[in-house]
Amino acid sequence: MATKTGEGFSSSFGAIMAAAGSAVGLGNIWRFPYICGKYGGGAFLIVYVFFVFFIGMILMMSEFVIGRRTGEDPVKAYPKLRPHRPGWRYVGLIGLVTCFLILAIYLVISGWTLNYFFESLVGTLSTIPDDGFGAHFNQFASSPLRPMIFIAVFLLLTTCVIVAGVEKGVERVSKLLMPILVVLLVFLCIRSLTLDGAAAGLSYLFSPDFSKLSGEGILAALGQALFSLSVGMGVMIVYGSYLPKDDNILKSSIWITVCDFAIAVLSGVAIFPAVFACGQDPTGGPGLVYQVLPLVFNTMGPVGRIFSVAFFLLLSLAALTSAISLLEALTQWVSGEKIKRTPSAIIMSLMVIVLAIAASFSFGEGIWSGIKIAGMQFFDFLDKLTGTILPPVCALLTIIFFGWFMKKDDIMDELSNHGMLKTSYFKVFYYILARFVAPLALLIVLIAGIINN
Ligand code: TRP
Repeated sequence: MATKTGEGFSSSFGAIMAAAGSAVGLGNIWRFPYICGKYGGGAFLIVYVFFVFFIGMILMMSEFVIGRRTGEDPVKAYPKLRPHRPGWRYVGLIGLVTCFLILAIYLVISGWTLNYFFESLVGTLSTIPDDGFGAHFNQFASSPLRPMIFIAVFLLLTTCVIVAGVEKGVERVSKLLMPILVVLLVFLCIRSLTLDGAAAGLSYLFSPDFSKLSGEGILAALGQALFSLSVGMGVMIVYGSYLPKDDNILKSSIWITVCDFAIAVLSGVAIFPAVFACGQDPTGGPGLVYQVLPLVFNTMGPVGRIFSVAFFLLLSLAALTSAISLLEALTQWVSGEKIKRTPSAIIMSLMVIVLAIAASFSFGEGIWSGIKIAGMQFFDFLDKLTGTILPPVCALLTIIFFGWFMKKDDIMDELSNHGMLKTSYFKVFYYILARFVAPLALLIVLIAGIINN
């Protein structure tokens, strides 16, 4: 079936790069290390591995199947597979609304990252006194003007890639940036591991401390697994609709998942040994990357600046390919016969930047920080909604649809590329994981999370 806009990826390799580009983002490099540290290092890692491979990967596979089978956007894809139950389109809709909200908050954090890249490049970051990074970050992130400039630049870059097209924009940029990202990350890992005292950082990251892994930690691991793999919200349905007909969905999903997981772990390896070697606090939370790392770089002397530039470039590039996937999903959704791709992308960008600006104004001591929703500042409210609550809900509905409402023959036909690939082991896999393990695990963690709150 042709996709609704006639766009698509040119090869399996391009598709894997684009989907891995979506998956690898701020979630891996900025969020994973501090969450892993917070919930007991190795203990968190064990639970996380389970969620990544037994829930996240299954969801990715399901979304690819739904997308390629229908060639539609998430809102149209569900009812196309189940014409008698049009209500399923709301699952697609909630997912896309979640993407919209994620993109808003993503833009704010990407804006910070771009600013830190810029400040590393021009050298202002290295002039800050050792005890001044916290204040510097708070002052910058709460200011009304400066973050907006970086948010706008970042969004402009993202929009340009989307306007260029799926193959000429999304695929090409991902194929270029992903290898650069891996090289930068390996370079940072090597430096971090060769610092004196690096072992303490590794042991912090890998030795399991089950006392810190609470029910909250388990829910956080699930949220993180879904967020990191970009699954549950329909983005992979969109990318699925662009997959080449001969792509082996199971194989590609495994590659993308392994790649995403490895990059999260490597980010921890790049960050924690350096933090420990410089005697910093590893539980720095969300500010770890912006408040603790610049200090670590400063203590490395002149070469620190090179590492600082490399690190914030790495983070900006990772954020870019993820933001691209979010905007692509929104663009594909609104574009059709009446509205072309370019105006769709521009309309969505303009809408999302309004929300991003509101989120930025409400952060920290920003000018709108007094406004509260459910007792939280708007930024924190959005973060909670998009990081913890909506992803598991969307993911659960998606997997229930896939396991219980989609026709099994359709799934097997799609997974086997219409009989070209052997599917005998898919069947067992599908029955056990997609129908039972993944939905049950999602349900249990979700209910436990609600009760714990
Ligand atoms: N996976 C990305 C990250 O780890 C974020 C992301 C991109 C995302 N697209 C998504 C999350 C779609 C959920 C849904 O940073």
